Amino acid sequence: MSEDQPSRRSFLKSSSLAAAAISLQGSSLLAQSTQANAYIDVMPGEPIATISPEIYGHFIEHLGGVIYDGVWVGEGSKIANVNGIRKDFIDTMKAVEAPVLRWPGGCFADSYDWHDGLGARAKRPSRAGFWKQEESNQYGLHEFMHTCSAIGAKPYLAANLRTQPARDFYQEIEYCNAPAGDLPSNSAAPAHLNALAAERAANGDREPFNVDLWGVGNESWGCGGNMTPEEYAAEFRRFTAWTPSYGKDPLRFVAVGPNGDDIDWTTRLFKALYGNPEGRHLWGLSIHYYTSGSPKKFAAGDALAFTDDEFYDLLTRGSLMDKVVTDHWTAMSNAASNALSKGQPSVKLVVDEWGAWYGKGTELAPEYNLSQQSTMRDALLTGITLDIFQRHADKIGAAAVAQSINCIHSLMLAQGDKFCVTPTFHVFKMYLPHKGAQSVRAAFTAPAIPNPMGDIPSQVGGSSYIGQLAPIKTLAGLSGSASIKGKTLTLTVVNPHLTKPMTTEIAVRGASIASARGTVLVEKDVHAHNDFSHPDAVKPSAVTSLSPTTGKLMHTFPPASVTSLEIKLA
Ligand code: AHR
Repeated sequence: MSEDQPSRRSFLKSSSLAAAAISLQGSSLLAQSTQANAYIDVMPGEPIATISPEIYGHFIEHLGGVIYDGVWVGEGSKIANVNGIRKDFIDTMKAVEAPVLRWPGGCFADSYDWHDGLGARAKRPSRAGFWKQEESNQYGLHEFMHTCSAIGAKPYLAANLRTQPARDFYQEIEYCNAPAGDLPSNSAAPAHLNALAAERAANGDREPFNVDLWGVGNESWGCGGNMTPEEYAAEFRRFTAWTPSYGKDPLRFVAVGPNGDDIDWTTRLFKALYGNPEGRHLWGLSIHYYTSGSPKKFAAGDALAFTDDEFYDLLTRGSLMDKVVTDHWTAMSNAASNALSKGQPSVKLVVDEWGAWYGKGTELAPEYNLSQQSTMRDALLTGITLDIFQRHADKIGAAAVAQSINCIHSLMLAQGDKFCVTPTFHVFKMYLPHKGAQSVRAAFTAPAIPNPMGDIPSQVGGSSYIGQLAPIKTLAGLSGSASIKGKTLTLTVVNPHLTKPMTTEIAVRGASIASARGTVLVEKDVHAHNDFSHPDAVKPSAVTSLSPTTGKLMHTFPPASVTSLEIKLA
């Protein structure tokens, strides 16, 4: 069997489609199907879960040029802005219907005092910030909330656990969420106005911000305090044992999770959290998984200059996200089956930092720390990652790409009045039809691609990684995910092969394909990218010649492409 030709027999054997397919012999479809070198079999009868809109989330941190210049240009700026917020940033986040926005860090969060960003901007203190930069505090809590409301995104606040006491945490909740107007005292005392709500109103926002999603610290195994899981569990319990609640729905607390695939962290954390019989207010477990541009060193490799071998290797290591998700889901499930955790709520995974992280060399300027260029290779990684999230819709409650603008795996680059979107932006947009749809199982059958660098062990992940993972030898020859809303099936597909088009027979079990249309992001050269002089060098185009035959679709996915198909079922 050639590398191009998957065993059709073994594919059919393992599929209950076999009978249906055999009965097609002699039909005109047979001529087409024998030309296929890949198969996609969608199973609407095997639903996974509704895809949480929050998996398409974003992240901005006080780091390099993310906030200052990226998001915040100031009200007096010549750059188009809405109350000081870069208009292009708002418009782009609106274009991808950003559901949640995480702030203020990252590592920055654990040395940030939220009080510093309140009140008249001219009077705000300047302080040393985590990323060796002076923080002017011109962009604070209110500016962030205005950014979220301009976009239509929910705020996701990362609270400081390392350098502030639990009191600051619950008072930040109070400041954000206490209703305007007098509150019943729930005692013999008369109703009165909450002092922090009054302060918020004095600072310009009478109505509460109603923040329900709260990260309790960040990377507490590293920059967030160098803690052990047991030490962090104790802190998490202390911070969340009591917090003020104003709405009828409980707040959603996200605990600091593993560094990449560090299963030991999750196992020990859950053991320690549930070692105390008191119910935990735990909605999510954060996961940070970055794909370094180099298998040997974290945050290394060049964003633009890479070989074919490095291209395949990066996508292979990026695909490890699937293992990371299932490993930590299993670790949490094992904890939940433990008698001590009986009755505890089920916890979702929150992959609130992910992306490809390269070394220096393509940053906008030295002061734009961790900014990097983004090519078609990153677009493919985006597709692979979002497909993994969609396939694991039952496990993942929210996610945030790191970061939205001018940092790591960005959707946007901005410097002064110069602005462009990256190929990653286009993939986020192309994947939107999956949002809130029912994820269904789909089998992708295509020859795997050997990873040319598959003898090098991978790092576990994160910015201060521990340990190594076994080398990964192969990359899926075709991968993707499927979801259904009514009679519309959305199928997103990544063909990572640099030279081989994948002619694919797409079948929907128990249904017939009536029509299809789509969008594809593809370039002849995977190094293709946008920059300020060529903002539209990479952009998607419509998929042409999609004609289903006898209920199935034969489609050729071009080399190194991301495709989104909208399929109407009969
Ligand atoms: O996204 C950049 C940094 O990466 C974040 O501040 C930190 O949480 C992670 O290590």
